[in-house]
Amino acid sequence: MISQSPTLVPLHVSWKEAILAAIRSPQPEIVSGVLTALSKIESSDFDSHLRAIADDRTRPSLIRIKALAAVSHKKGPLSKKAFVLLKQLLSSGNLEGGRIEAATILAGIDLSEDQVLETVSLIQDAGPLELPILLNIFEGSRGTDTGLALVEALERSGSANVLLPAELKRMLLRYPLEVYKKAEPFVESLLEREGQREKRLAELESELEATEVSNGKAVFLSGKGACITCHKIGADGREVGPELSTIGSIRTGRDLLESILFPGLTLARDYEPYEIQTHDGQTLLGDIQRETADTVFLLDATAMAKPIARSSIKTIQPGSVSLMPAGLDMTMTKKELLDLVGYLDGLE
Ligand code: HEC
Repeated sequence: MISQSPTLVPLHVSWKEAILAAIRSPQPEIVSGVLTALSKIESSDFDSHLRAIADDRTRPSLIRIKALAAVSHKKGPLSKKAFVLLKQLLSSGNLEGGRIEAATILAGIDLSEDQVLETVSLIQDAGPLELPILLNIFEGSRGTDTGLALVEALERSGSANVLLPAELKRMLLRYPLEVYKKAEPFVESLLEREGQREKRLAELESELEATEVSNGKAVFLSGKGACITCHKIGADGREVGPELSTIGSIRTGRDLLESILFPGLTLARDYEPYEIQTHDGQTLLGDIQRETADTVFLLDATAMAKPIARSSIKTIQPGSVSLMPAGLDMTMTKKELLDLVGYLDGLE
């Protein structure tokens, strides 16, 4: 559980009108921005407005959740209503980054011990981009029951292959030893798979001849492997990573497999990730989209340029890992992976 204590910002009267105007804005981005800001301000002046937003079913779920999160941090644990909404959003089919943002909100607010245990139910079906974020929720948890339930959920998860086995081990070792004992075979199997990636690449390459391109397209569109969350092909997907509409004309099947099995091995130009450490202990990874005198805009997997105040930044340096997680190849069947590569290879 990460506890983010709100920064105390003195609220000048003249701001209040501006904030109210932003809350009433018809543009979701503006409302979303002001809600993020309000969640960091110690003021109950807006609570009635925030609750009205949360109750408004015509608004996008994410906006409603953000409104609830902005109210509830002042009253201790996340309210039940916000928790239920977040859970709904996380298990929805939303491929537009909404699930990632819901996971980020959930990982960033105080949850009660019961809510931490309840979050275990979200682990099994979490996508490869949400899972690592959700695991932050368990950083502060020490209960044997929570630990054992978490291990079971991870074993059943289709996305656990994107987790770094060493990180996972470190985290599970914080629980009573019984928990790691249960997890050990699973963590070992992750480590082993990590070591066999070269061999897997060679095997897969030899099977690239007979792929079903139409099925590969369906795999991409279905959101499997989260490719569509970060890559654009034609009108589909989003541009967090390079557009892949004509990728087949510059890459061979083997190159493509390599990009998926070993992301960042050869970082595509213009996609050099940066790692930002903030004074309040967060580590953020993403591409720097633009900079101003006092703000850096970081583009992460949610595909929204996050403004980060320079004053909150401790260090900023080139990141050593790609924004594209390793292990995505293991979040789908071998046939799905081969068909996907066949499809990409044919895009010229
Ligand atoms: C979290 C975002 C993210 C996800 C999810 C993701 N990628 Fe990427 N991908 C990137 C980024 C960023 C790069 C460029 C930097 C690099 O090479 O690491 C990249 C690079 C690539 C490249 C190399 C492109 C080139 O020009 O050589 C290919 C191919 C690729 N991705 C395919 C995929 C496929 C297939 C999936 C799904 C299994 C996927 N990616 C999932 C972010 C992502």
